[in-house]
Amino acid sequence: MNHSPPPAAPATPRCDHTSAWLALQQHYAAVGQAFDLRHTLDTDTDRFAQMQIEAPYVRADLSRSLLDGPTGLLLNRLADETQLARAREALFGGAMLNTTEQRAAWHVQLRRPEGYRAASDYEAAALQAVHDTLNAFLAFAEQVRADRGITDVVNIGIGGSDLGPAVAVQALHAFAGGGPRLHFVSNIDGDDLGSLLTQLDPQSTLFLVSSKSFGTAETMTNARAARHWLLGGLASSINEQTAAASEADWLARHFVGLTTNIEAAHSFGIQTIFGFEEWVGGRFSLWSSIGLSIAIAIGAQNFRQLLAGAHAMDEHFRTAPWEDNLPVQLALLDIWYRNFHGFDSRCIAPYAHGLRRLTAYLQQLEMESNGKSVDKTGQPLPFKTAPIIWGEAGTNGQHAYFQHLHQGPMVIPVEFIVARKPGPLLPGQHKALQANALAQARALAFGKNDGPAWKQCPGNRPSSLLLIDALEPTSLGALIALYEHRIFVSGSLWGINSFDQWGVELGKTIAKDILARGESGDFDGLDAATVGAMQWLGLAASKD
Ligand code: F6P
Repeated sequence: MNHSPPPAAPATPRCDHTSAWLALQQHYAAVGQAFDLRHTLDTDTDRFAQMQIEAPYVRADLSRSLLDGPTGLLLNRLADETQLARAREALFGGAMLNTTEQRAAWHVQLRRPEGYRAASDYEAAALQAVHDTLNAFLAFAEQVRADRGITDVVNIGIGGSDLGPAVAVQALHAFAGGGPRLHFVSNIDGDDLGSLLTQLDPQSTLFLVSSKSFGTAETMTNARAARHWLLGGLASSINEQTAAASEADWLARHFVGLTTNIEAAHSFGIQTIFGFEEWVGGRFSLWSSIGLSIAIAIGAQNFRQLLAGAHAMDEHFRTAPWEDNLPVQLALLDIWYRNFHGFDSRCIAPYAHGLRRLTAYLQQLEMESNGKSVDKTGQPLPFKTAPIIWGEAGTNGQHAYFQHLHQGPMVIPVEFIVARKPGPLLPGQHKALQANALAQARALAFGKNDGPAWKQCPGNRPSSLLLIDALEPTSLGALIALYEHRIFVSGSLWGINSFDQWGVELGKTIAKDILARGESGDFDGLDAATVGAMQWLGLAASKD
């Protein structure tokens, strides 16, 4: 592991301290707020061609956005004046962007190929360590795939140690090629692990305990329950073969640790451990050994393709000029919608069944990263940051919340993710799926202005299309990296630390305290509402 201190991150101007910000405010008041999407689409026949952005494995059609040429120029000027290029350089150079935790946020390093040109000894050492670990856990993944004695692999983790791998395994099931079954357990609710265990055989199950800290309550509670179940299985299945096997041998064969806290994993009884660096943030960790479940599911070669797709997007983000740079353009559009139009949420609707959990993953990525109200120096922000990210896979969402998108009181930009080619299963249904995505985008933009009032839809509602050729490892890697960089750009312009999550930490601390107080019966200093609910729920005995 590389323990050199990361280089310091540069101080860059906050968006509202630039002249471009003021110009954008004036432009919004003068013309931006009255932008007529329907009219523009009807009259500007070049718009479709002009508003395509081609990035590796992902193409965006932004023609249905509330954006015109002058706004785009001002937004690019904003990127210049906030010195986005310096911030980007700091990201790629492994600078200490996460100042409150004194760490870099260097997930791009996990995707760089072996031999990638290193700008410093610090970078070269980090890359070597990344590839040593990568080669080791991919070799292990192949070993598990070849082991006919292992039929089921359970990833126990939560947040970034669950969502990214769960999305990738689900999305890439067509690439499994006969490996073991993969399962994901995250919730501390015993129903999650408990219901799964009823279907498993301890002899043929491998648990991956995925936790950067190896201390997260949900993960450790589930890991301990899994260990108990496994050792119970050992006791009840003693036969000639297993009689000699000690508990330690069983743990060694059936548990793997994926963590930066090697010592804690050892004390748990785990022998096979794949580490990663502190500079890998939880929600950016699927590219590290936290992705072992993905590698077991789709094999080492496909995992390398996932990394290659992400790396291609990294290079695009690192080198493309602002106007052709997809993460930058999407982030600038996000800022235009959030800080000028005032839209409070963004809906992400993947029109791909394989991506049905993608929105949950992106929700963590964006809301945990940019759901902040102070800047890097602790100053309160006079503008809003991350919107609410939500959504459901299409076409299911159409029969749930799309009514509100078309006729509800709020304007909510929608992001449609659509693949050109179908997956291998029932490909004949793919055209209908694509047609539905386009129909929704068209209905949002044009609405319906005739008939009775209750049938009319206002239209003029923005959407974007993110298009991939097919759902495969490279395109998925690129798509996820695209979102990571987009979030980095908006966070950087807003002047916030996108890499800590102190709000989440607060909840963890209070949950621990409530449990402890329930056991001790010491309610001193606790508010009456919490104590009352604890008693009602049976978390604590009543005082009288
Ligand atoms: O949800 C908060 C969080 O800290 C995430 O950032 C992280 O992905 C998750 O908890 C799990 O943390 P760990 O990998 O340390 O168990």
